[in-house]
Amino acid sequence: MEDSQRSVILSGLGTFVPHKVVTNDELALHVETSDEWVRTRTGIAERRLAEPGQEVSQMGAEAARAALADAGLQATDIDAIVCATMTPELPFPATACLIQAELGLPRVPAFDISAACSGFLYGLDVVTRLVQSGAYKRVLLVGTEKMSSILDWEDRSTCVLFGDGAGACIVEAVDEPGVGIVDMILGADGSRTDLLHTPAGGSRLPASAETLAARQHYLRMSGKEVFKLAVKEMGAVANDLLERNGLTAADITCVIPHQANIRIIDALAARLELPLDRFLVNIDRYGNTSAASIPLALEEARRLGRFGSGDRILLAAFGAGLTWAGALLKWQ
Ligand code: COA
Repeated sequence: MEDSQRSVILSGLGTFVPHKVVTNDELALHVETSDEWVRTRTGIAERRLAEPGQEVSQMGAEAARAALADAGLQATDIDAIVCATMTPELPFPATACLIQAELGLPRVPAFDISAACSGFLYGLDVVTRLVQSGAYKRVLLVGTEKMSSILDWEDRSTCVLFGDGAGACIVEAVDEPGVGIVDMILGADGSRTDLLHTPAGGSRLPASAETLAARQHYLRMSGKEVFKLAVKEMGAVANDLLERNGLTAADITCVIPHQANIRIIDALAARLELPLDRFLVNIDRYGNTSAASIPLALEEARRLGRFGSGDRILLAAFGAGLTWAGALLKWQ
């Protein structure tokens, strides 16, 4: 971001995860898997799953309330709401509008971002520009997912990987120069949508008895290929951000990677030649929470004191689309 522009900071962070913890052993009662396989192949020990009736907008609103409290703000201080989700509560309208209603905030604009696991960083880029332009003073960005609602609980290769949860931040401009969001990179490759998608339930294949029988309303993934591309693109986006800002990995105090697989994070650490203790890892407790993954990890890193004022933080994500994104922050 150019020097002449005002700094844009994340002035409040908040998270919410459902109470219900489901361990690998519990999943092994329903599909042919084991705690040992899931831990060693993914790093996941347990995940949180929403209860019936616990909706993605409610989880998002809880995270938003926590972010507002963290920033010392009221809901009425917010000028716009952007929600990143790949599990919208309804096909339409936007989940952001449902969160708006939950928060009791009339008339501010509200819309969704669809970039799967890169959604929070895509949203952060959009929101940063909304604030930087001066059009909006404070924007609420929410990443919220009920992945359990789109998983095929008979497919062991995907159902063990994901979890539910939400994270939120308040994005606003400040006069202090050189802090907050330093730079961001977004990318996509729409020629590989087949690698990670849900075939039915959209306008191409609306719900029918046939699509239900074929289990086409569930997430499908070519895990091995997605794995390789995640390592490649998250590594590339991280290196590009460092290079174009004249930094090396050694200048980064804390890396917040999308939590998809501990082996992807290990590979990223090797590529950046950084020790794993420079990365926030919470995949063991939450699994892959898609658009909620980055804010859940960022809030935890801050809570644990993994970074402080003046420290540089690198965020990197990869997801369906295919999409990828990175952000470089200097904490205020
Ligand atoms: N429990 C036990 N065995 C399982 C299993 C499970 N939950 N899931 C798959 N397997 C089996 C497979 O059937 C396969 O058996 P086979 O060799 O007899 O065919 C074997 O384990 C190896 O499967 P494979 O797919 O090669 O494993 P992998 O090492 O590639 O790990 C993933 C699979 C899904 C964990 C891994 O590819 C991955 O994490 N991919 C990226 C997923 C991701 O993060 N997606 C979101 C990106 S944002």
